Amino acid sequence: MEIDLSDRVAVVAGGGRGIGRSSSLILAQAGASVVVVDIEAERANAVATEIGDSGGRAIPVIADVRESRQVESIVQAALGEYGQIDILVNIIGLASWAPALDMSEELWDADLVLNLKYVWLCSRAVARVMVEQGRKGSIINICSISGMTAAPSHAAYGSAKAGLVGLTRSLAVEWARDYIRVNAIAPGSMKTPRIMDMIKAAPEIEEAQANRVPLGRWGTTEDVAGAVLFLASDLSDYVTGQTIVVDGGFLISQLAMLGG
Ligand SMILES: NC(=O)c1ccc[n+]([C@@H]2O[C@H](COP(=O)([O-])OP(=O)(O)OC[C@H]3O[C@@H](n4cnc5c(N)ncnc54)[C@H](O)[C@@H]3O)[C@@H](O)[C@H]2O)c1
Repeated sequence: MEIDLSDRVAVVAGGGRGIGRSSSLILAQAGASVVVVDIEAERANAVATEIGDSGGRAIPVIADVRESRQVESIVQAALGEYGQIDILVNIIGLASWAPALDMSEELWDADLVLNLKYVWLCSRAVARVMVEQGRKGSIINICSISGMTAAPSHAAYGSAKAGLVGLTRSLAVEWARDYIRVNAIAPGSMKTPRIMDMIKAAPEIEEAQANRVPLGRWGTTEDVAGAVLFLASDLSDYVTGQTIVVDGGFLISQLAMLGG
């Protein structure tokens, strides 16, 4: 069965790079009209152009999702161009590292806003539209396996991502009767541009981490985008409130503890 999203409009928050870019591309390939949202104009423009050049439909929207007025402007831009919103993918996240004993309040607040609060702001704004439209909707939140396990110096990020699993469940139940499905994806170690910079600085982690993953490799942004496509489409029509782990088997294995 071919996945056909040609009657759907998708808003991808953080669509300009990494997992967001791959998610925007795969949704466009399936026929969706894509609203590529990013705080960096160059990134949003580049992805929207890439989609347009390959025959798809997309517009860039430059906005900071931390501010509710800018979130509203995203919704207005999407409605102005395409007249509806059916899919929202909340990609943006901030992974900080700081010991809990010394962490500043500013860092804690920044993590909680950019991993948790903005997802509520974007979901609320889009769900209001979905309820009014009276059509089915799908909201997809990118969490992390860091929200399901614990690591030293990762309290703010881990708490925010764990909270995002909870927010996903809460909104799924609250909006179920409007047939707005809300699900999450928890990636493991993925080769995003940000992680590639880390690997350049410390090349030894590349092979070491691959060996700790049962499937024997790092994840790619396309691996996450595949799960996004499933959750965006009617193939997952009876799935809501779930978190799909995309980590090559890392979380359920003992290789992580044994160090490979
Ligand atoms: N890379 C990994 O291994 C990994 C593992 C687990 C979870 N994740 C999660 O995956 C998600 C995506 O990671 P990534 O590395 O691809 O993202 P990224 O850091 O490349 O960010 C995606 C895009 O969001 C944009 N952005 C940042 N702040 C913004 C704001 N305030 N408003 C609008 N746009 C903003 C950035 O400009 C960027 O283009 C995050 O939620 C992250 O926590 C990543």
